[in-house]
Amino acid sequence: MSRLIVVSNRVSPPNAAGEETVGGLAMALAAALREYSGLWFGWSGKTTPVFTGALDTETVDGVTTAVVDLEEADLDEYYNGYANKTLWPLFHYRTDLAAYDRVYGEGYSRVNKRFAATLAPLIKPDDVIWVHDYHLIPLGRELRALGVKNRIGFFLHVPWPARQVLTTLPGHKRLVEAMFDYDLVGFQTAEYLQAFEDYVLFEAGGSQPGTDRLRAFGRTIKVGAFPIGIDAPEFARMLRGVTARRMRDLMSASTVFRNLIVGVDRLDYSKGLEERFMGFERFLADNPDMRREVLMLQIAPVSRESVEAYQEIRGRLDALSGRINGEYADIDWAPFRYVNRNYRRDELAGIYRAARAGLVTPLRDGMNLVAKEFVAAQDPADPGVLILSRFAGAAGQMREALLVNPNSPEEIADALKRALSMDKTERIRRWSALFAGVQTEDVTAWRDAFVGALAGAKERRAALAS
Ligand code: ADP
Ligand code: F6P
Repeated sequence: MSRLIVVSNRVSPPNAAGEETVGGLAMALAAALREYSGLWFGWSGKTTPVFTGALDTETVDGVTTAVVDLEEADLDEYYNGYANKTLWPLFHYRTDLAAYDRVYGEGYSRVNKRFAATLAPLIKPDDVIWVHDYHLIPLGRELRALGVKNRIGFFLHVPWPARQVLTTLPGHKRLVEAMFDYDLVGFQTAEYLQAFEDYVLFEAGGSQPGTDRLRAFGRTIKVGAFPIGIDAPEFARMLRGVTARRMRDLMSASTVFRNLIVGVDRLDYSKGLEERFMGFERFLADNPDMRREVLMLQIAPVSRESVEAYQEIRGRLDALSGRINGEYADIDWAPFRYVNRNYRRDELAGIYRAARAGLVTPLRDGMNLVAKEFVAAQDPADPGVLILSRFAGAAGQMREALLVNPNSPEEIADALKRALSMDKTERIRRWSALFAGVQTEDVTAWRDAFVGALAGAKERRAALAS
């Protein structure tokens, strides 16, 4: 079997204690790599005064990671800048928040060159390379420029936006052109794949030589939709563990005679937290008879704190959560708990298990693994109800959830009422269908589908000739 080299900005090896690692990409890659004697390469999360390309390598739980420090300017211009102030808002349809600054673009291109130069000497002729997410779109092009001939695939974890949105990005064509240096380009859903095809056909003057092929910029690539999943067996194992059961008991004890509603998200403006808080507020206002029977718990660890938009939303959420409790709390009771901490994964599993409703309402999301974790954690005999945004990639697979428009606090309030009033037969029916999907469309299926398709992609040389 060829060696698999996974490349992503964030590298987060699994650790023995099942500690927290926030972000769907890290969760999925740790799980996906476990069975490959491969390598996971990327940023260390640390800075150094001068970039040296020195690698810090370690092997944990059978996964070898090799990480490199970046300079402070790289962090500002590449990670906080182009990745998180330009591409992230744009790909999540927040053109109002997208910043266009040439310096960011230069930092992005510099770091991709640096990653390529550091990685290239580690690559052996038979290795298969799998590059991840919006931070590293040009990495394939940089590796090709250094003479790397291996199969290289790219997977985008976030949405691919509609052509009309993408074209607001200065230099959009160059970004898309770089994607044609991969052998396979994968998206989370058929909808994002279609948006990419639409760009290639109508903006880049490309063609579609086959159902899973696109040709433009003088090159042909294979494309596909590969919905990511959770590590279902590992999740089931955690759920049976002492920590998860203790956490479930703790949550159940603190919600006696009350229904727990839970939300778990990185504190990100794409997650629809403001609208969700307002939806809960609306639910309390509309349903005085149900008020004292609920507790909403929102867990939202802070994320990308150096970016202003993230500081601003944090301030607004603090104010909103204070307003809700100020309005509705009593001396012996408060409706809302809002915490900004990370939890261990097995603790989260126990929290989900204790909940009667899971609120997963991003305004846009590539997939959303929390929705799948919530379902995986439920008691088959008495499951909770998933309320899911129709704009999460997961909505394409999870049709039995209560699907809502996350922009509408009213719809969220109505869905909460419906979830909390739903009889057990309907809850079990909906959950059984969701659970079956989460079990079969898991992270192993995702990895095998992508790596299989990459192995089946034509040799690069042959592709160039076609
Ligand atoms: P994203 O990749 O945008 O953060 P996902 O929902 O796909 O969104 O993935 C989030 C992952 O991070 C999930 O696996 C979730 O369990 C984890 N996570 C989110 N919040 C926390 C937290 N407070 N503590 C630990 N893990 C968290
Ligand atoms: O899943 C999308 C994603 O942006 C990943 O690429 C990333 O690792 C994760 O969310 C968390 O964000 P960050 O790495 O910026 O903390």
